[in-house]
Amino acid sequence: MVRGRDATPAVEEVRLPAPGPGELRVRIRAAGICHSDLSMVNGTLAPTYPLVLGHEAAGVVTEAGPGTRLAVGTEVVLNWAPACRACWWCRQGEPWLCAANAGPAVARGETADGTPLHVTLGLGALAEEVVVPERAAVGVPDGLPPEQAALLGCAVLTGAGAVRNTARVAPGESVAVIGLGGVGLSVLIAARAAGAGPIIAVDVAEAKRELALAAGATDFLLSDDQLSKEVRARTEGRGVDHAFECVGRSATIRAAWRLTRRGGAVTVVGMGARDDMVSLAALDIFHSARTLRSSVYGSADPDREVPELARALSDGTLDLRPLVSGRIPLDEAPAAFDRLARGEGARWVVTF
Ligand code: APR
Ligand code: ZN
Repeated sequence: MVRGRDATPAVEEVRLPAPGPGELRVRIRAAGICHSDLSMVNGTLAPTYPLVLGHEAAGVVTEAGPGTRLAVGTEVVLNWAPACRACWWCRQGEPWLCAANAGPAVARGETADGTPLHVTLGLGALAEEVVVPERAAVGVPDGLPPEQAALLGCAVLTGAGAVRNTARVAPGESVAVIGLGGVGLSVLIAARAAGAGPIIAVDVAEAKRELALAAGATDFLLSDDQLSKEVRARTEGRGVDHAFECVGRSATIRAAWRLTRRGGAVTVVGMGARDDMVSLAALDIFHSARTLRSSVYGSADPDREVPELARALSDGTLDLRPLVSGRIPLDEAPAAFDRLARGEGARWVVTF
């Protein structure tokens, strides 16, 4: 939990409400620490405090409120954008844009010392237990490694969906991925599965080279002033068909734009700040004929695609081990936030 902007996250006792109608109590088995949680701590996403962190988790249903379908004992992955299935976007087939989804922090009845708490993205999953609407829980097959299953709920669905649903990368297309955290590495895994090539991974940290190559990159480049030249050298002088921005900053959105060929597509996966403005030349927008669009939660329907990814995990066609830097106990989570801020490792996953 974090008490205020830039406060150090701390492990605290929280009182959970009993599950009401349509709600479930879920015992968390594993929860990943995502950059969006860090953006909650440092205020980039301007949440309301005090705030229970965490939104990428797998667990098991331990109590089912009235009118729910999922049975006690069902293994689930949490979904931070549960679809109402009734609004204009849901009826349009775009449940990831569901109008019912609230802001970065919502109040869900948790308290600490009598103080009402907010929970990250409606979940607050960096905790031993959560009480969530049933729509925020997706049933998955039993027996998945919890630290890999947890990642299906944010990084992997986001990354795989950006490649498959938003950009629709085709075999043989060239790809660049900027920012190699849990999200960028998931994009690499999906790009390789889609048969893309070359797959050029870009980061400011040299330490990401090995992780990138393990996840499916054909090349690793440091983000420096030679970057555009190096990417063009690998794409017959054109630039890539698809660039994925997985940092969430105007500077890297512009870098992604410059790496993309005329007529290519930039997919913004990173979640940036409200006041970080992106500037592009009007003439360049016209002349380059590029597409610039964002991918929210992988343009995915988690109720359909999380179980699909979970089946791939259980039959071995999806291997998320390169994504997991370490399984840590809850009391090491505050230190893992510092590691994430320094760009160390891929995903740190708290296991219970
Ligand atoms: N150029 C290239 N890489 C960069 C730059 C830069 N200017 N700045 C940071 N990076 C790299 C970091 O070194 C790190 O490897 O971006 C990576 C970000 O990784 P994580 O912090 O693990 O972030 P992740 O959880 O993958 O999320 C990425 O997606 O969901 C959003 O809010 C999330 O905006 C964030 C983004
Ligand atoms: Zn996330």
